Amino acid sequence: MTNILHISSSSDIQSSVTRQIGAVTVADLKAASPDAKIIERDLVKNPVPHINPEFLGAMFSGQPDAPELKLSDELIDELFASNIIVFEAPMYNFGIPSVVKAWVDHIARAGKTFKYGENGPEGFLTDKKVILVLGRGGIYTEGPMKAMEHQETYMRTIFGFIGITDVEVIYIEGVAFGPEKKAEALAAATERAHSITQKAA
Ligand SMILES: Cc1cc2nc3c(=O)[nH]c(=O)nc-3n(C[C@H](O)[C@H](O)[C@H](O)COP(=O)(O)O)c2cc1C
Repeated sequence: MTNILHISSSSDIQSSVTRQIGAVTVADLKAASPDAKIIERDLVKNPVPHINPEFLGAMFSGQPDAPELKLSDELIDELFASNIIVFEAPMYNFGIPSVVKAWVDHIARAGKTFKYGENGPEGFLTDKKVILVLGRGGIYTEGPMKAMEHQETYMRTIFGFIGITDVEVIYIEGVAFGPEKKAEALAAATERAHSITQKAA
């Protein structure tokens, strides 16, 4: 049984390219596995709050059933329940949207998703695949802007930290370079989504 966790994070609800290509990706996966269960987690329509003193207090108190950790537990359960995670993230100011960072602060939890062992950090989510759908106004896979890319590198770091190293990326780059370039980027991303999902199915 395939369980897909689909996470959206673009603040553009109407014409988001990451939402568009993320939807294509999930539809492809569903077509390949009609029984697949899909969990939708929209970080814009239902934002995860910033972690606060009560959250930290509960986390460090060692009380697993603390009510302050309920949402964090729910988000972590969604990760463990999934085989494939389709994660959409537009680039905002060279990195990820702040709603994604708030989600990360809830799911990176010692003893739950990782631990520090004798050889350093060890992630617990070792049997998952992530398909990252990344939107960018400019070009960061090559050229002069490459060093300013803190979106893919950050997401790979976080997923690696919790044990997920099987990460495929669908880039939608250069969408700010005019309608023609945007259409080309969307066509290439759609092709890539089809090819990744054929392998993943
Ligand atoms: C608040 C904001 C910040 C942005 N910052 C960048 C940036 O640093 N670099 C870039 O290439 N594009 C940037 N963009 C453009 C988006 O990454 C691009 O439009 C992308 O398509 C957004 O994905 P979406 O259509 O799914 O929302 C920014 C857009 C917004 C709204």
